[in-house]
Order: sequence, then C-alpha cells, then structure tokens
Amino acid sequence: MENLYLGIETSCDDTACALYSNKRKVVIHRTAMQLAHERYGGVVPEIASREHMKTLLPLYDFVMEKGEVGLDDLSGICVTNGPGLAGSLLVGLSFAKGLSYGSGVPLTGVHHLEGHILANDLEDSFSSPCMALVVSGGHTQLIYVEKIGKYEFLGGTRDDAAGEAFDKIGKLLGLPYPWGAAVEKAAKSGDPEAFDFPRGLKNSGECDYSFSGLKTAVRLKVESLGGLSSAIVSDVAASAQEAIVDILVRKAVIAAGRKDVHKFYLAGGVAANGRLRELASEKLGSLGMEVSWPDIKYCTDNAAMIACAGMYRIESGKTDNIDLNIFSRGELKSWR
Ligand code: KG4
Ligand code: ZN
Repeated sequence: MENLYLGIETSCDDTACALYSNKRKVVIHRTAMQLAHERYGGVVPEIASREHMKTLLPLYDFVMEKGEVGLDDLSGICVTNGPGLAGSLLVGLSFAKGLSYGSGVPLTGVHHLEGHILANDLEDSFSSPCMALVVSGGHTQLIYVEKIGKYEFLGGTRDDAAGEAFDKIGKLLGLPYPWGAAVEKAAKSGDPEAFDFPRGLKNSGECDYSFSGLKTAVRLKVESLGGLSSAIVSDVAASAQEAIVDILVRKAVIAAGRKDVHKFYLAGGVAANGRLRELASEKLGSLGMEVSWPDIKYCTDNAAMIACAGMYRIESGKTDNIDLNIFSRGELKSWR
C-alpha cells in the first residue's frame, strides 16, 4: 500500500513543502528562497518569519495540487520543529498543527539534522551503521548512526559553523549571495596554496572544530593586501576553502576511526561543495570507506528530507500531539 507524507520545513530562511511516498520516494518538492535578506548581509529573523507567513500557504497549495493529493490521502504530516530560528519554526509548526488538527492526519516533529542526514535516503537507500558529517550554515557535527533513529554525537564546532565561515568569507570578498556557492565558484580559478590559513584545533585529536580563527585570519589578510583584484579574490577563496575542507576531513577521519563503519555520508548545505566531496572521497576512501552525499538539490534545506525522516518516525509509532513545541537549539537525540 502506498503511504504519502507531507513535509514542511521553515527552520531558517527557506520555505519548503514536499510530498514523499514510501513507494515512489520524492513525489514533488518545492523550496522558496528568501532573497529579502541579501541587502542586510545575513538572515534577519523577523523578516524570515514574515516571509514564511506569506509563502507557506501558496506553496502548500501548489505542492498538493501538483501532486494530485488531498489531505485525506496523507498518512502523516512531518514538520521541522527545531533547531532553528524560533519565529520561523513557529510558522511551520503552527501551520502543520492546524492541518493535522483539522484533518486527523498524524503529526510528527522532525529534528532538522535528522532530515539532513536522511537526505541521503531520498534517491539511494540509506545504509547503516554509518558516520555522518552534517555541515550547514548553522551546524558542523560528526554523528554516528547505528541505525535510523539511533544517533551518537561525536563532536562539533565550538564556535562558527563551516557554512557560516564560507558565508562570512564570501561577504568579506564582496562576492554575490548565496556566498557558499560563490566562494566555491571563485576558488575554481584560484591557488589553494596561495595563503596558508589556519586549521582550527588541528592537533586536538578530538572530533571538534573551530572556524572563528580562520574568519579573522582571512579578514586580516584581505586588509593587508589593500585592493582586491579578481585574481586575489580567487586565491583567497581557494585557500580559505582548502583550509575549511581540509580540517572538516581530518576530523572526519578521526571520527571514522572510532567506530566500525564502512559508510560515510556528507550532509547539509556545505555537502554541495565539490572540493569537500573530492577530499572526503580521497581520504576516507583510502581507509576503505565508501563516501556518499545527496544530490545538490537535497543538500541545502528542503522539505523532502523532512518528509522522509518523518515517515520513519510515524511508521515506528512516533507521532506528536497538538502540544508539540519548537526548540531553537538541541542535539539530535535517539528516538528508538
Ligand atoms: O543546510 P543549509 O541549506 O541551511 C542550514 O541548515 O544552515 O546550508 C546552508 C549553508 C550556507 O552557509 C551556505 O554557504 C553553504 O550551506 N553552502 C555551501 C555551498 N552551497 C551552500 N558552502 C560551500 N560550498 C557550496 N557550494
Ligand atoms: Zn539545514
């Protein structure tokens, strides 16, 4: 029997809706990026909430119409309830609760990071036990996945997330929004060894990260160079990207050595980065690990990954009530 799940994601500045089927996988998914933040140089929480308010209902109508589905056809409503921006999360959660309360369709709250990890299940079949490196604008974490629903946090960033470092460096270099992809593009014609930027906590021997020193080093280098020619921008972008990717992979190797796993997944917006994919495949591959990542469209925030993660919860009886709340911060905990 086919079961259909609606996914809703509003944890930051992307409004997303999707339909996921236990038989056909992703039926339809749509993400509306909020460009209103660009002129402020970063996400403005108040604007993000208001944009979600404007966009979510028409996006939901569109997805249901294109998917030729009515509320009664759904087996579950899956919504990100944290971590993220409180106001943004509340828009998605309140909408999902209204749908569930009015229709009787079961509701489940999904942890955003579980969604990112299970983006790897959208086109291929997710294989566990495995290790996952979740790298996005808000998170940098190494997580051991014994099986779907059973997680162990091995380490994460002490300050900035890797995506945040990409964004800040892109902004500093005067590159266009979205900065992560712009840094990667500029880096293509640059020399990754032009500048020796710091790799935070390189010698700690732990699975922890720090990117705030890198951001400062790049700023000081840019200031010392005076003007920014396009060749210098490319060299700074390439060297900074190399520093981020190098340390991400070094710690991933330490994490992989702590568990008996042969599968390593990249996840989150930074998993879209080609150099990260290349270096992770090389270093982890030489240790006998198979490295995979989601298609680019499922690396950044989307609702298909939330519907997929929610499906596993609902099929295991993990539904939530109308009193479900949001949380701004919080680790991915095991739910079975
Ligand atoms: O997962 P995501 O869409 O949102 C969060 O949950 O944060 O990730 C967005 C982050 C941004 O910081 C963006 O700069 C980064 O992913 N990103 C990239 C690339 N594409 C997106 N970073 C490096 N290279 C890319 N190609
Ligand atoms: Zn995300």
